[in-house]
Amino acid sequence: MPINSIDSLLQEERRFPPTEEFAGNAVATRSLYEEAADDRLAFWAKQARSLHWHQDFTETLDWSNPPFARWFADGKLNVAYNCLDRHVEAGNGDRVAIHWEGEPGDSRSLTYSDLTAEVKRAANAMITLGITAGDRVAIYLPMIPEAIVAMLAVARIGAIHSVVFGGFSAESLRARIDDAQAKLVITADGGWRKGTVLPLKPTVDAALAKSGEHPVTNVLVVKRGENEIAWAEGRDLWWHDALADAPAEHVAEGFEAEHPLFILYTSGTTGRPKGILHTSGGYLTQVAFTHKNVFDLHPETDVFWCTADVGWVTGHSYVVYGPLANGATQVMYEGVPDAPAPGRWWKIIEKYGVSILYAAPTAIRTFMKLGREIPQASDLSSLRLLGSVGEPINPEAWVWYREVIGGGSTPVVDTWWQTETGAIMISALPGIATLKPGSAQVPIPGISIVILGEDGTRVDPPNGGLLVVSEPWPAMLRGIWGDPERFKETYWSRFAALGDSTYFAGDGAHVDADGDIWLLGRVDDVMNISGHRLSTAEIESALVSHPIVAEAAVVGAADATTGQAVVAFVILRSKQADKQTSDEASALLRSHVAQQIGAIARPREIFIVTELPKTRSGKIMRRLLQDVAEGREIGDTTTLADTSVMQLISDKLK
Ligand code: PRX
Repeated sequence: MPINSIDSLLQEERRFPPTEEFAGNAVATRSLYEEAADDRLAFWAKQARSLHWHQDFTETLDWSNPPFARWFADGKLNVAYNCLDRHVEAGNGDRVAIHWEGEPGDSRSLTYSDLTAEVKRAANAMITLGITAGDRVAIYLPMIPEAIVAMLAVARIGAIHSVVFGGFSAESLRARIDDAQAKLVITADGGWRKGTVLPLKPTVDAALAKSGEHPVTNVLVVKRGENEIAWAEGRDLWWHDALADAPAEHVAEGFEAEHPLFILYTSGTTGRPKGILHTSGGYLTQVAFTHKNVFDLHPETDVFWCTADVGWVTGHSYVVYGPLANGATQVMYEGVPDAPAPGRWWKIIEKYGVSILYAAPTAIRTFMKLGREIPQASDLSSLRLLGSVGEPINPEAWVWYREVIGGGSTPVVDTWWQTETGAIMISALPGIATLKPGSAQVPIPGISIVILGEDGTRVDPPNGGLLVVSEPWPAMLRGIWGDPERFKETYWSRFAALGDSTYFAGDGAHVDADGDIWLLGRVDDVMNISGHRLSTAEIESALVSHPIVAEAAVVGAADATTGQAVVAFVILRSKQADKQTSDEASALLRSHVAQQIGAIARPREIFIVTELPKTRSGKIMRRLLQDVAEGREIGDTTTLADTSVMQLISDKLK
């Protein structure tokens, strides 16, 4: 059960219309909805043309081979040029692109001219290392400006980046390097996190030392942590040396709009992460459009801060491509919110005069728990818009966010989207909408969403069902890297009987009498922990890879702060069960999962049990385990092969 239960949501009656002042200066207009409704493709073509095209396109959408979309296919553009050179050439080279704040308190500001110059050198350095268009480059970096420089440099030369979140283990990194066949890895010696240096280069070394051939020829290393690292002569190179040796000038070439831009791995319902593929023109069009209109961006005056790590899709779209395509000034912060003390975010907002903040509900709920005195110790009056992403936001957290962080006056936009959708799909547009706490509200202009029942019929409001995107959209994923069948099966088969254009997102949603959408969380075996996506199957396979484990089942249990938490039920091999106490075994397995996947996947609890609830066909009934994990009365057990199992489990856990 997600944190938003529909019963409590439907009692939510608070409404927040825009102030006249906000509405009077709003970027978004109602006419956007009208234009998009009149002619969806013409609307997107118009948005696309606000970018710079090396060669204009003649066809907006080619959907002749669904679900493989081609947007603006005969156009050519350079994504990095759109994010950099274009702004310098327009006379905005002196505008700050990034105010970067290191966790220990050091800081750097880079203007659009600075960033352009760095990216040109980095692009040339990669060319020297033999990277050419279409090659894959893995990026495993902390939140430092070089992460943005590296991504844009890869994009500039038409290579494809695969950013791997710095919290992932050597195993996970290697699996991603192998799957994408990355030739180059860009990493750092280490980065600051929670008051210490988290070493990254040793993880890259460990990943590349694992058995089997790997495709990596070079590792570029940014100096940040100043920690001692091992060095593989001939393979490893310092980033600063490579850039210093590289020519300063680089002329951006136009690539086809459908040229791949990046692969980003995300968890699905199986044990193997999926490499979600995004391409150039459509992706950049929708991230730029949404960044401008959902966040009401006034690039001359706003200071935007998206707190996500570049290792997640939110960081790709709203730290890198959206803000930079729009010539925004933004803040980037290396560390955690409570280093050195819990008020760090609020001090950063005060220091840089942040006007737009985009964060996850988990963070907001954590701040709520700590109390309003902490944010109130900083001047947050520069804030004029707040955003939420990654998981359902409960109305209490929404209202607290607006009251305490937003001074009781800022709009809060709840934005629903996914790694696969590439950009925001559902959100109210500030200045136009009357906001409802807890509801993401309406599709953005040009996006078609329907809520369907299990049988594929459209649900009549007010009612709940499954969230479906019913028309192709510019930033849509173009596939799963190397696995077109899995792409079709995962997203397009659930409602295939209704036609080629029904993308099933995996989320449940309710639509109210006004037509507003309330997200209810995943309906599949995907969990959402602090806004991060994890698969039950992936953690189960990490658990059973340990020699003491015979069987494992994982569920996402409701958690007041993190939305959901990982709870595992494990059967030990019989010999082990005698040797170890349950506490010892769970401690051992919790760290095993962290080591296999990364600390984000570490289960909150592991229960050692002797049986798991299974149907006669052997399928584990996670729903019943979820009841136990959430302390609820156990639901219907009649389909179990052995109905006494649940009694056994709950007795054991008492
Ligand atoms: O369940 C939805 C939830 O996060 C999932 C996508 O996760 P990921 O690909 O990691 O991307 C997260 C950041 C875009 C969705 O299937 N989700 C995302 N935003 C919201 C949300 N659930 C409710 N409300 C949201 N605003």
